[in-house]
Amino acid sequence: MSEIILMEDIAAQLVATSKGILAADESTGTIKKRFDGISAECTENSRRDYRELLFTAEGVSDFVSGVILYDETLRQSSNDGQRLAEILADQGIIPGIKVDMGAKPLAFSDGELVTEGLDGLRDRLAEYYELGARFAKWRAVVSIGDTAPSQYCIDANAHALARYAALCQEANIVPIVEPEVLIDGSHSIDECYAVTETTLKTVFDELYKQRVVLEQMLLKPNMIVSGQDCTEQAGVDEVAAKTIYCFEQTVPAAVPGIVFLSGGQSEAQATEHLNAINQMGDHPWEISYSFGRALQASALSAWGGKSENVAAAQKALIHRCQLTSAARDGEYSTDMESSS
Ligand code: 13P
Repeated sequence: MSEIILMEDIAAQLVATSKGILAADESTGTIKKRFDGISAECTENSRRDYRELLFTAEGVSDFVSGVILYDETLRQSSNDGQRLAEILADQGIIPGIKVDMGAKPLAFSDGELVTEGLDGLRDRLAEYYELGARFAKWRAVVSIGDTAPSQYCIDANAHALARYAALCQEANIVPIVEPEVLIDGSHSIDECYAVTETTLKTVFDELYKQRVVLEQMLLKPNMIVSGQDCTEQAGVDEVAAKTIYCFEQTVPAAVPGIVFLSGGQSEAQATEHLNAINQMGDHPWEISYSFGRALQASALSAWGGKSENVAAAQKALIHRCQLTSAARDGEYSTDMESSS
């Protein structure tokens, strides 16, 4: 096989200046929901066609350092028969892989979830490495409610995240550790702050106990924002200040990069927040993006499941990538939204 590249170098490439990650790892169930939203058929071929248009958009590698793939996509080939992972690698984009098996009900809890997928993970990682994946993702979800989250839920998820991360590093694959505190609900920004702080402290404690090398991983957290249904929505400056303060309290400086999820924020909102966070000055970590919906929403709707719209969808993707990349460098302004 190809030469071994150090995990530190892969992590650094993923958060290189002006670049970030495209999360295109929707499970079959999730991508079906997205396709239903644009009345597109969801088949193995339509999923392939959609991902192929994203990965072949001209200039995408100027903004995208890595793409997180779903198992099916890592094994798929383009219409012309070239493996999609190879199409990415040929442009210098690093292929990654979602390895968790989804969030399932946590026993003896009141509706909370724990992410599954550790059984057999060592063997799956070895195969994914052979298929070209050089980084991985595991998403845990923590929701905020009247009595949630319980420390039990946070502990169970943190333990699984650390086991996953250690197995990845053993396989020479950079783990992206993703504990997502969900935006759903009417909680305030301060409740989001408190839950995220506890979650990150617990996660880094577990990573330490399980000997995970901080220099060889990336963190993929939520931003500190008001709940979606909260009547008083915090402004951009408050989001940026509380997000950075939270990380200063919890994320060791040895971690090379923090790559945000968009988590249900609109494309413009997620971009504006990322920009304000990066404008706050020098941080010990690179701060970039690993957006799914906030990079794909316009492209998906421009495509609408129709082959005649591929060029329009690619144009929409590149425009979104340009703005997000500007925000990653702290050089975005909302006027750029209207330019094409
Ligand atoms: P969103 O940016 O749509 O939240 O997706 C990112 C992701 O990978 C969630 O696991």
